[in-house]
Amino acid sequence: MNYIPVNEPLLNGNEKEYLCECIDKGWISSEGPFVKEFEQKMSVVVNRGYGIAVSSGTAALEIAVQALGIGKGDEVIMPTFTIISCAMAVMKVGAVPVLVDSDLYTWNMNVDEIEAKITPRTKAIMIVHLYGLPVKVDRVMALAKKFNLKIIEDAAEMHGQTYNKKPCGSFGDISIFSFYPNKHITTGEGGMVLTDDKEIAERCRMLRNLCFRKDVRYVHDEISGNYRFTNLQAAVGLAQLERLHEFIEKKRWMGRYYTERLQDVEGLILPIEKTEYAENIYWVYGIVLDKNIQADNRTVQRLLEEEGIGSRAFFWCMHQQPVYQQQGMFVNEMYLNAEYLARKGFYIPSGLALTKEQMNIVAEKVLKVVNNIKKGTE
Ligand SMILES: Cc1ncc(COP(=O)(O)O)c(C=O)c1O
Repeated sequence: MNYIPVNEPLLNGNEKEYLCECIDKGWISSEGPFVKEFEQKMSVVVNRGYGIAVSSGTAALEIAVQALGIGKGDEVIMPTFTIISCAMAVMKVGAVPVLVDSDLYTWNMNVDEIEAKITPRTKAIMIVHLYGLPVKVDRVMALAKKFNLKIIEDAAEMHGQTYNKKPCGSFGDISIFSFYPNKHITTGEGGMVLTDDKEIAERCRMLRNLCFRKDVRYVHDEISGNYRFTNLQAAVGLAQLERLHEFIEKKRWMGRYYTERLQDVEGLILPIEKTEYAENIYWVYGIVLDKNIQADNRTVQRLLEEEGIGSRAFFWCMHQQPVYQQQGMFVNEMYLNAEYLARKGFYIPSGLALTKEQMNIVAEKVLKVVNNIKKGTE
């Protein structure tokens, strides 16, 4: 049986050539010339003044929060349904994540709940675009303006996506991307912080590199970390970026094709193709089991695995993370939509290297597993 992994990136452009150039010229560290070129080209794609490449999307979030001066006791409003990197970045500076529930239609944060969560301590709103469709940015921008709040835009999964024709990653004070291999553009590991503010950009550069003082090296006024991004990563990133448009088109085709194959399977909620402000770029192809399916995502995943199909569960809510519960956080908080998505959502193989034949097999196996559950054989 040929196993179909949940993600396999496509690396058959100029990646090898640019990597060989790094090795031939001896530029493999973060000082190499591809890093600046990648930052510059990514800033153009996102329509931002400055891009600062860093070691991961998680690092980018940590730098973004610190660069905005968010600190002890400040509150940052964010979705409960997201990756832990978002909450970690807020808590690392001593600030408090304040959570909102999800919208079951787009799987993004429910922006209608934000205003009620604003207090005198609120410093920022972290918007996190998930699974291929953007958050309703206009609504959040209006609130930020009204209450004088910063916006951190987590566009880790949104390479090439737009909101009302404007690039995701171009909104608010600061934005971030991840280049992990399941993203539309990968560098193996990696991330980027983007902003239009020169001072914030300079601060991000400093935070990326141990906070060396400008005037004298090895002397530090502040603590950060080593979040540098290598020339080797940038070489891969540049080759990937050359194909962004093609990759988006392929992912959109994949999304539509999976939907065509799965739309008649009763019990599955499939991703929506478009909203009034964006067309789905299907970061991954997510599926949510409806209430009539008497199983959770883990059961379906186990059965798919037995059929040779890789999958991943959706994110687990922040308010239900054992690590935060042990710290006495989010006591008695409930976010029913997010909890539903976390228990009933999963995604099927969605990597750019996936073939149509593999997608047909995946769709057949999903159908088989869901039918078996419905028949009560599991
Ligand atoms: C929405 C979101 N934010 C942040 C991250 C963190 O990125 P990384 O894995 O590069 O640290 C991810 C990773 O998948 C993500 O999906």
